Amino acid sequence: MATVTRRIGLSLGADHCWPLCYEAVMKRLDLAIPVSKKDVAKFEVERVSIEPWDLAQPVKYDVILDRITHWYPTSREWVKKAVVANDVYVLNNPWSIQACEKNTTYAAMMRLGFPVPRTWMVPPKEYEWTADLRITLKRYAKLFDVGAVGREVGFPVFIKPYDGGAWVGVTKADDEAALRTAYEGSGKRVMHVQKAVAPFDLFVRCIGLGAETRIIRYDADQPLHARYTTDRDFMPADQLQTMRDMTLTINAFFGWDFNSCEVLRQGDGLYPIDFANACPDSQVTSLHYHFPWLVKSNVKWSVYCAATKKKPNWNLDWEPFFKIAAKDIPFSEKLTQYAKIANTRLETDKYREFCDKHLRHVDEVVWEFFDTEEAKDAIRGKVAILFPPHEIEQFTEHFWAQIQKWRNEEGRPS
Ligand SMILES: Nc1ncnc2c1ncn2[C@@H]1O[C@H](COP(=O)(O)OP(=O)(O)OP(=O)(O)O)[C@@H](O)[C@H]1O
Ligand SMILES: [Mg+2]
Repeated sequence: MATVTRRIGLSLGADHCWPLCYEAVMKRLDLAIPVSKKDVAKFEVERVSIEPWDLAQPVKYDVILDRITHWYPTSREWVKKAVVANDVYVLNNPWSIQACEKNTTYAAMMRLGFPVPRTWMVPPKEYEWTADLRITLKRYAKLFDVGAVGREVGFPVFIKPYDGGAWVGVTKADDEAALRTAYEGSGKRVMHVQKAVAPFDLFVRCIGLGAETRIIRYDADQPLHARYTTDRDFMPADQLQTMRDMTLTINAFFGWDFNSCEVLRQGDGLYPIDFANACPDSQVTSLHYHFPWLVKSNVKWSVYCAATKKKPNWNLDWEPFFKIAAKDIPFSEKLTQYAKIANTRLETDKYREFCDKHLRHVDEVVWEFFDTEEAKDAIRGKVAILFPPHEIEQFTEHFWAQIQKWRNEEGRPS
C-alpha cells in the first residue's frame, strides 16, 4: 500500500489553547487510515501563515479549520480562493459567514417554522454622513418612533445589534422610555427590537460540530468563566432531540460545520434567540469541563473530512427545506424532516461508521492527554493571556479541576 498525506491547515487568530491540544492529540494518534484499496493516509497539521499570495498558487491543504474569516479579509479571501479554485473543505463556509448575519438566520428559520421571538429591525440612530446618504435618507427615510416598534413587538423587549456578538450593545427594555434611551445610545449600529422570552426557566446552548452536538445549560448571570455549567439531566430526552435537530438543521441550511445555537425554554416552548455563531467560543476559559469534547470532536470531524475528501458545501440549496416548510403539518414533524436532510448532508451515519472503524482510540487518547503537563501548560498559556498575573495559577487550577471532573465522570474509555 502507498502512503498518501492529508493536510489539515489551522487558520487562526487569537486562539491559543485548542490548537495546541488539537496538534498534540493528532501527534499522539499518529493516524494511518486506509482511504482506498491501495492508499493509506497519514495526517499532517500545519498553521496557515499570513503573507502575500498568488491567486494562481496551489493550496496544499485538504481541510482548513478557519477561525478568522469573519473579521480578517486577507485570510477570508484566501480561504474562499482555496474553495473555488482548489476544492478545499473549509469549516465554516466563508460565504455563508460573510453573508448571513443574525437577521438572515432569524428570517430563514422563521420561514421553516422555528419559534423565533417576534423581531423588528430599525434603521440606525446615527450615520457617517456622505452626499448620497443625505439624499437617500431625505427621499426615503421615514421618521419613526422606536417606542411604537416596542409596543408592536410587545414589552419587555431586547434591543440588540442585528449582527451582534459578545453581548455588545444588548439591552433589555421593559417599557418605551427604556427602549428610547437604549436606541438613543446605539450609535451607528443597525438594531433589532426583539420580544423578550421572559421569564424563561432554562437557557441552553447546543454546540454543533459536524455530526456531533453537545447540549449545555448556560447561566448568563455568572461571570464569563462560569457560564457553561457542568449540569446534567436538565432536559427531557424529547427536548434534547429538538435541540439537536434544530442545531443540525441550522448548520446544514447555512453550510456551517461548527456553530452554536442558543435557546430559551418557557413552559414547553423552546425559543431560539441566537444561532448565527459561526465562529463559536472554543476557549478552555469558557468551555472548561466541555473543552475536551471540543478538541475531540474537532479531531474526529476534521480527520473524517480529510480522509474521505468530503465534498465542500459549494451551494447551499435551500429548496428541499422550503418544500417541507410549505407542508401543512405541525412544526415538530417538519423539524424531523429537516433534520433528516441535515443528517444526510452532514453524512452522520457514514461519519459514525468511520469513527467506529478508524477512530475508536481517539476517546482514550484524549482522556489520557488531559492528564498531562502538556495539556495543563496549554491551559495555563490561555489563562495567562486573559487573566491578571496574580490570578494565573488560581484560574489554571480552576479550569484544570473542571477538566479532571470531566475525566472522572467519563472514566477511562474502553
Ligand atoms: N429575545 C430574548 N429574550 C430573552 N433574553 C434575550 C433575548 N435576546 C437576547 N437575550 C439575552 O441577551 C443575551 C445576548 O443576546 P444575543 O445572544 O442575541 O447577543 P450576542 O451579542 O450574540 O451575545 P453572545 O455573544 O453572548 O451570544 C442572551 O444570551 C440572553 O441572555
Ligand atoms: Mg448570543
